[in-house]
Amino acid sequence: MIAIGVDIGGTGIKSALVDTASGELVSERLRTLTAGGSPGHIAAALAEQLTRLGSDGPIGIGFPGVVKDGVVFTSAHVDDEWQGMDFRAAMRDAAGRDVVVLNDADAAGLAECRFGAARDVPGVMLMLTLGTGIGSAMFVDGSLVPNLELGHIEVRGKEGEVRAAASVRERKKLSWEEWAERVNEYLDHVDRLVWPDLIVLGGGVTKNAERFLHLLEARPPIEIARLENRAGIVGAAMRAAEGRS
Ligand code: BGC
Repeated sequence: MIAIGVDIGGTGIKSALVDTASGELVSERLRTLTAGGSPGHIAAALAEQLTRLGSDGPIGIGFPGVVKDGVVFTSAHVDDEWQGMDFRAAMRDAAGRDVVVLNDADAAGLAECRFGAARDVPGVMLMLTLGTGIGSAMFVDGSLVPNLELGHIEVRGKEGEVRAAASVRERKKLSWEEWAERVNEYLDHVDRLVWPDLIVLGGGVTKNAERFLHLLEARPPIEIARLENRAGIVGAAMRAAEGRS
């Protein structure tokens, strides 16, 4: 089935058509800057991207916050106006068909479990996306435990993502070594809470994995996401094809 996958991030709104049987993108990947991420801006960007994609397939959207039954509860990297909004209902009205909305890291993890680094991995798998913030998604024998928010656990008196997200390395001009040290500390805190059997790291920074993977130290094995910056789009499309939010 061909479904539309959308990945709304703190920096970019990305979408593509996805063949949900193979996990491959079958269109170009569209991208618009999130630019503060007000509901009006994101709705306009989505409307434009959906028109360009020109498909009447099911629509799945990954959102960078807690989403339950289509309703947004948190929005750390987009406008506060999102909180309490029924995004699914608003998109259904705008698109004229059913829409599935889920957390962005949950979407990325679903794609990695089906097609990527965590394919057929038993036990507790933790996906962490290192981007503008830190997203987390936990799977137990391939089943998602939705809306796990490990980006906000406290490390040295600050939220983990405020110290160790990929955006922090760029903003603070940290060396790869300095940043890796922060990531290691963060991974250690996470490990002591969740004790995963495998950690899969995703987010745009993983395209530079050769710069930092050898610097990372954690008790569980660490793998780099295989779908790279496509994971969120593919996972959202998969959920849409299944008709589950
Ligand atoms: C949000 C998460 C999201 C992550 C990555 C965090 O600040 O709370 O829900 O998955 O950023 O976008």
